[in-house]
Amino acid sequence: MPTQPPQPPQPPQPPVSSQPPGHRTLARAFDAVAAQYATARPGYPPALFDAIEELAGRPLAGARVLDVGAGTGIATGLLTARGAQVTAVEPGAAMAGALRTAHPGTPLVRAAGEALPFPDDAAFDLVGYAQAWHWTDPARSVPEALRVLRPGGALALWWNIPDPDVTWAAEQEARLARRLTGYHAHSVAPEAPDLIRGLGLGLDPAYRILHWTRRVPLDTHLAMLGSRSYFAAIGPEAAAPVLADERTALLDVFPDGIVEEAYALDLTVTIRPAASS
Ligand SMILES: C[S@@+](CC[C@H](N)C(=O)[O-])C[C@H]1O[C@@H](n2cnc3c(N)ncnc32)[C@H](O)[C@@H]1O
Repeated sequence: MPTQPPQPPQPPQPPVSSQPPGHRTLARAFDAVAAQYATARPGYPPALFDAIEELAGRPLAGARVLDVGAGTGIATGLLTARGAQVTAVEPGAAMAGALRTAHPGTPLVRAAGEALPFPDDAAFDLVGYAQAWHWTDPARSVPEALRVLRPGGALALWWNIPDPDVTWAAEQEARLARRLTGYHAHSVAPEAPDLIRGLGLGLDPAYRILHWTRRVPLDTHLAMLGSRSYFAAIGPEAAAPVLADERTALLDVFPDGIVEEAYALDLTVTIRPAASS
């Protein structure tokens, strides 16, 4: 029998989380990282709001907008700056508290997208979910959005996704997925149009991807990662070694410590048909 040559010593394997946090745990995890979320998460570029106006068929200025899963108010502030009359909807106490501090003049209700506390004739022009619709049950949240929209109003869903066409960002996502069981399990952005068509409500979503970047200090980038629901759910102790290894890996790519985050901004816009109730 051939003998195996001696193997070189293997580097220690990173810890692998074998029990991934479930959907409900992840959906509720943000409250633990609300302050970090508010400071480290990216916003959304003007091109997003231009695309929403184009696909919704009306300007945001003067539009009655429901921002569902509003979190700390990142999209709330940008929609308001475009002249929209925004009402924020957020189930999480700490996230809602941060929104109230950042946008004291914005009406805020504590609720989930599956049960919007508004009457049938609320007649919003736009129901928006920024980085939040994947936490809802589409079979309930889509009919709820249609119910409170005016006929011809629009449901807009969008997500900043790490740009898969940018090598370092794709490698980082692959690295995290190898190390963290279930890390990508709840990403639904590219499937949103099919999920909505599949509800059998006669809906015909439009879909766009917009590419954009922002340059931030490495610490902000790591805080952004740490504000993702997965890291929030596993807690700071389990997150720390993963983020430390990301720091090392990213200093190879960005030796000056300024990270150019690259996003594929995924947008799905669905118009409420005149016949929907
Ligand atoms: C990733 S944050 C997005 C926050 C904000 N829209 C933004 O653009 O930064 C997701 C938010 O969705 C909220 N959320 C979780 N489950 C939800 C549900 N069923 N309906 C509405 N929002 C929900 C969370 O509390 C959290 O604030």
